[in-house]
Amino acid sequence: MNADILREKFLGFFEARKHKIVESDSLVPKDDPTVLFTPAGMNQFKKEFMGFDSGFRRAATAQRCLRTDDLDKVGKTSAHHTFFEMLGNFSFGDYFKEEAIAWAWEFLTQELKIGREKLWVSVYQEDDEAYNIWKDKIGIPEKKIVRLGDKDNFWPAEAKTKGPNGPCGPCSEIFYDFGPGVGCGEKICDPSCSCGRFVEIWNLVFTQFNRKEDGSLEPLPNKNIDTGMGLERLAAVMQGKQNNFETELFQPIIKEIKLGCQDINGDGAGIASDTSRPRNDGNNGMFYAIADHLRAVVFSIYDGITPSNEGRGYIVRKIIRKSALHLRSLGINKPFLNTLVGQLVQIMHEPYPDLKDRQEDIAQVILMKKKTLLIF
Ligand code: SER
Repeated sequence: MNADILREKFLGFFEARKHKIVESDSLVPKDDPTVLFTPAGMNQFKKEFMGFDSGFRRAATAQRCLRTDDLDKVGKTSAHHTFFEMLGNFSFGDYFKEEAIAWAWEFLTQELKIGREKLWVSVYQEDDEAYNIWKDKIGIPEKKIVRLGDKDNFWPAEAKTKGPNGPCGPCSEIFYDFGPGVGCGEKICDPSCSCGRFVEIWNLVFTQFNRKEDGSLEPLPNKNIDTGMGLERLAAVMQGKQNNFETELFQPIIKEIKLGCQDINGDGAGIASDTSRPRNDGNNGMFYAIADHLRAVVFSIYDGITPSNEGRGYIVRKIIRKSALHLRSLGINKPFLNTLVGQLVQIMHEPYPDLKDRQEDIAQVILMKKKTLLIF
């Protein structure tokens, strides 16, 4: 099942459950000085979480997001990205844990037909309510419900002790089990292990607190729901891939880069084959990183950010620079990133039909920046 179908199914599922389908917000957050780029679906709804009435109490989105904390990991792991899409459903003082859990389970197991046996869940260590819903209402065996702490099952992670201020709460995550053949191979392995066997696919946040300046957690006027499921990761699971970069969201771009390398290097010498294990950080990692960075740069420019020496523009410039360095390592010393924009437009034309009209301008901005950086 490809990403376009998954996006549509997700939004359709929640629309049928009376959610207002809200457009993705820009990567440049409006009225939110706490973040440089939009990092999650919930950001455009902070005021609704704080009690503001926008006229709707249920919403669902496919939000474009940018996170740069893990920039150096991109390409070295199977699931780290700068740019990604987050599928989310939200409740502003309407439904709470029971419905959020039941619908997430229904969507995965009935709509997408993921086998129940492949799914595990985690809950916040003190959250007996969520634990019991999973156990009694959904019927998950207790050995597949893991209790985790502030770092894993509170959102934002460790917000209780470290911040940021704002809406937060305990969460419950749903994991897909790739099976004992993947990861550490230990007899006892569960979602708390970071070996790669278990991949988190959906985070259900029970947003019920406002963290204040003094670090105290004040109950919000309402109990809310904020969920987030990475589309790239879901697509990988649905396509039986252990690596997001092996899905159709990235592969056409990667193929194009490989062709570019072959033109330059003749036989493509030094380029890892398509079938090599995805979790390496060899040459495939560089292809993955370039494909990731292309998406980040294109959507940043799409949202009006110009590469520059400060703020957001500086981050975009840094990402362009990183991709240029990867391209250079692959033997491509001429302007190239700009030539990949068309491929990305084809992949993303369904959710972003207007990208086509912007294609030339965006490619031109990338080309000009690379020229002024004097690196190709
Ligand atoms: N805000 C949560 C996250 O980013 C759930 O959407 O994971």
